[in-house]
Amino acid sequence: MEEKFVIHGGHPLKGEVSVSGAKNAAVAILPATLLASDVFTIENVPHIDDVVVLLNILKRLGAKINFINRTTLTIDTREVNSGNVRIKLAKRLRASYYFIGSLIGRFSDVGVYLPGGCDIGSRPIDLHIKGLTALGAKVDTDYGIFHAVSNGLKGTEVYFDQVSVGATINIMLAAVRAKGTTVLINAAKEPHVVDVANFLNLMGAKIRGVGTDIIRIKGVDSLHGCNYSIIPDQIEAGTLMIAAAATKGDVLVKNVVPVHMDALTAKMLEMGVDVQEFDDSIRVSCNKRLNAVNIKTYPYPGFPTDLQQPATVLLSTALGASVIVENIFESRFKHIDEIRKMGAKVTIDDRIAVVQGVERLTGSQVKASDLRAGAALIIAGLMAEGTTELYNIQYIDRGYDHIENKLIALGADIKREKVEEESIEEFELEFR
Ligand code: UD1
Repeated sequence: MEEKFVIHGGHPLKGEVSVSGAKNAAVAILPATLLASDVFTIENVPHIDDVVVLLNILKRLGAKINFINRTTLTIDTREVNSGNVRIKLAKRLRASYYFIGSLIGRFSDVGVYLPGGCDIGSRPIDLHIKGLTALGAKVDTDYGIFHAVSNGLKGTEVYFDQVSVGATINIMLAAVRAKGTTVLINAAKEPHVVDVANFLNLMGAKIRGVGTDIIRIKGVDSLHGCNYSIIPDQIEAGTLMIAAAATKGDVLVKNVVPVHMDALTAKMLEMGVDVQEFDDSIRVSCNKRLNAVNIKTYPYPGFPTDLQQPATVLLSTALGASVIVENIFESRFKHIDEIRKMGAKVTIDDRIAVVQGVERLTGSQVKASDLRAGAALIIAGLMAEGTTELYNIQYIDRGYDHIENKLIALGADIKREKVEEESIEEFELEFR
């Protein structure tokens, strides 16, 4: 049954909260276990729907999965004997394309339904196809299936026209078992790209240069199982930092890598938020109206597109006008229609949003259109006066590990409730 969040705003968040493992690393590391026929122990796995879907796909391929505790699991890939991921479940998430990079080193014919994921723009996969083709695979996307055939990949130079997290990781996965050396030029530098490479190196891969825009991968004949702990989620950490400032709270966000947060921290300081960094935690406190700032999204180490939507909400009550430029995805302003219902004053021209700060937001009925829009609307509900009902929260569950429990522990008034059939109808009528 569909669920919604009911949020009574106006409670400052206070206390300590721990960040879960990184979604965007987990969704690559789990398929990457297929590169070897062995046993793995993975720690700090986030409890999110995208991970549940991936684990189910791994099981369907013959892997054995065993949870040791809430965040640690073992994966045994020794009985996986097919590269056929033509499973409907795979359509549910973007990261399904990592099955191609992971399986093409082990099987000669692999196919997966074309990726789904959040609707935030056209999200092509041309760079993945270009990279795999350069390595010698025959790739097509006929009948809605991302299909690759190869009798052994050969290392080569791959130049990415655009920085892409997905393409960098996918081609890295394919190249670790290719013959010879692959050089990825204009590679993505995101923390989760580095984390996936660290995991692969622990499996016996030879990858150098991750974290820079040139990655060199010397192919190896075989890989083996390992124990690995996934890094903390940069975007969940940022969401919690923004929520703390938005509610005029005082929160210690634990289990973070502060350097991953530099772009956000710099912007928050510019807004007038008090941000203190420690070894593996960040304290965010705020007791005044914030200054307007301008934000442009860029690949890492620039300001992450995934935090643009929450940051827009934070700026909706700042003093003055903020200009937000979304450089990565063309349709990532869908949350703005919703915060306008809550009193925000925002104009949009293509990829530029101008946020004119208002004194306060007020509660309303709003709908999440994608994962990060959902997170942004939770923050809007927490800072608004009155009650907000947030629908389509299945998007939020895809990427946040029970975020409402973390917020409740910090003093938020947020409840997950079932949506009654008649209230869905009423709600949809209102929005027609
Ligand atoms: C990943 C993240 C997502 C984040 C995004 C940018 C995962 C599962 N998701 O998405 O949370 O918002 O990085 O940090 O890790 N592009 C092409 N051709 C391609 C691939 C990408 O033109 O073949 C373009 C995209 O349309 C976009 C830009 O490159 O404009 C960056 O996309 P990319 O980094 O690939 O995003 P994802 O890997 O899909």
